[in-house]
Amino acid sequence: MSLFITFEGGEGSGKSVQSRALYRRLSKLAIPVLLTHEPGGTPLSKQIGRWLKWVKESHISPLTELMLFNAARAQLVNEVIQPSLKKGVTVICDRYADSTTAYQGYGRGLNLEIVRAFNDAATKKLKPDLTVLLDIPVEIGLGRKRAKRQDRFEGEDIAFHQRVRAGYLKLAKEEPRRWLVIDATRSQKKIADIIWQRVSQLLSHGKR
Ligand code: TMP
Repeated sequence: MSLFITFEGGEGSGKSVQSRALYRRLSKLAIPVLLTHEPGGTPLSKQIGRWLKWVKESHISPLTELMLFNAARAQLVNEVIQPSLKKGVTVICDRYADSTTAYQGYGRGLNLEIVRAFNDAATKKLKPDLTVLLDIPVEIGLGRKRAKRQDRFEGEDIAFHQRVRAGYLKLAKEEPRRWLVIDATRSQKKIADIIWQRVSQLLSHGKR
């Protein structure tokens, strides 16, 4: 029995901290688990991701961005996520297709049907059992990142990040059974506890 769990949220929402905490918790219980992230998780996906985040020399159109994130994703799903789930390993992924809907769909304003078509092709319609949304006001999230060098997305204006946040909340509302929305301004410990409560429920119900 394995679960597919994804983490989503805007900049500085604490996804990486919480996905690692969940990974450690499951590992301690000797539950087979793999932690991966997007864009990345395979050598090819990592190269594409690095380029998408840091390229300066050329303007990337929103449609190109959509295709490149999904190229990286197709490789990750095929090479890592699907084979792991098939072997009974629980997979935790820090960002997945919902990131594309939020950033390229709602943030960049691409047609949502086109976004869905590319996401579906890359994921082969593999959906998470649980998606944790760490929701944080944009100014607070970006403030947490201010000291670091900004990539192409972190450097976008506030309005872009607000569209991304609103997009995420809309997605969560559309599929409330899949999404767990958490106020990411709460303490790391409290957030980890809320996530664990849901994950342990899913584990005991023997999903997938
Ligand atoms: P991160 O590694 O800090 O999460 O950065 C990934 C950045 O890429 C983040 O700003 C969100 C963005 N992104 C998209 O715009 N679309 C996507 O599909 C994914 C996976 C990430």
